[in-house]
Amino acid sequence: MDEIAAYYNLGKEQNRLTTGASELEQVRTRDILNRYLPNKGVIYDIGGGAGIYALPLAKAGYQVHLVDLMPLHVQQAEESSTKQPDFPLASVRVGDARHVDFADNSADAVLLFGPLYHLTEREDRVQAFKEAYRVLKPGGQVFAATISRFASMIDGFGRNFVLDDDFAGTLKQTLTTGQHRNPSRKPGYFTTAYFHKPEEVPAEMEEAGFTWKASLAVEGVAWADNDFMTKWENPQLRVFVLELLQITEAEATLIGASPHLITIGSKSA
Ligand SMILES: C[S@@+](CC[C@H](N)C(=O)[O-])C[C@H]1O[C@@H](n2cnc3c(N)ncnc32)[C@H](O)[C@@H]1O
Repeated sequence: MDEIAAYYNLGKEQNRLTTGASELEQVRTRDILNRYLPNKGVIYDIGGGAGIYALPLAKAGYQVHLVDLMPLHVQQAEESSTKQPDFPLASVRVGDARHVDFADNSADAVLLFGPLYHLTEREDRVQAFKEAYRVLKPGGQVFAATISRFASMIDGFGRNFVLDDDFAGTLKQTLTTGQHRNPSRKPGYFTTAYFHKPEEVPAEMEEAGFTWKASLAVEGVAWADNDFMTKWENPQLRVFVLELLQITEAEATLIGASPHLITIGSKSA
């Protein structure tokens, strides 16, 4: 956890998804939420960071409670919440996805957009899913963000990181075990994390009681395009890119090429 805290204390998380190709992650995640969330209700955003998804969801009328392990992110989310006084977050607190301070059967949806790749042991990830299951109402849904096992390799070729010894030194371990590490602490190489094979996520959530509903690629293959920004900044091409990603988002043979996946599960009604 020290490595993870040191990484997030660099303070880069708040604006991570607002510029450049990372904006694709945010736009696609919001689009998926838009299509799969119920129209209203209570959402627990666990690992919600500085509130990048919680704040617009509160503005859209959901009752959103944010939990995060990092006090810095919680403080940033609180500050941003005060800037939308008509639609504030319902609550913001420091907490761990493995044991959350919410009542049983109290949420319509739980977002786990962060804890599952930072909990490097399977039993901890299953425990986080069990907590999500406990706090969800019958029929409620969990949205689980994970990082693909193959993301480092694709990024490594696309941006030539494979030629950097610091990157290449850990790549084989990441690919074979899912255990990603960044001993040189280069910010671009992320931090301590577990990178899932797509099929592992349904198994982990099912062990906690969920019924698997969908596994969706977030950025799909578009992130690997070295000329992505030319297309993204052109309004017509942006629409085209988003259409292609939606058409292919659930293709089981392709989704591992997307850096982020969202896996959806439901608690039986
Ligand atoms: C990359 S950020 C993602 C933030 C935001 N949810 C998003 O999708 O952009 C990962 C977040 O997960 C949080 N986190 C990691 N492990 C956690 C845990 N066990 N419980 C709660 N939050 C956790 C981190 O503090 C960090 O804010």
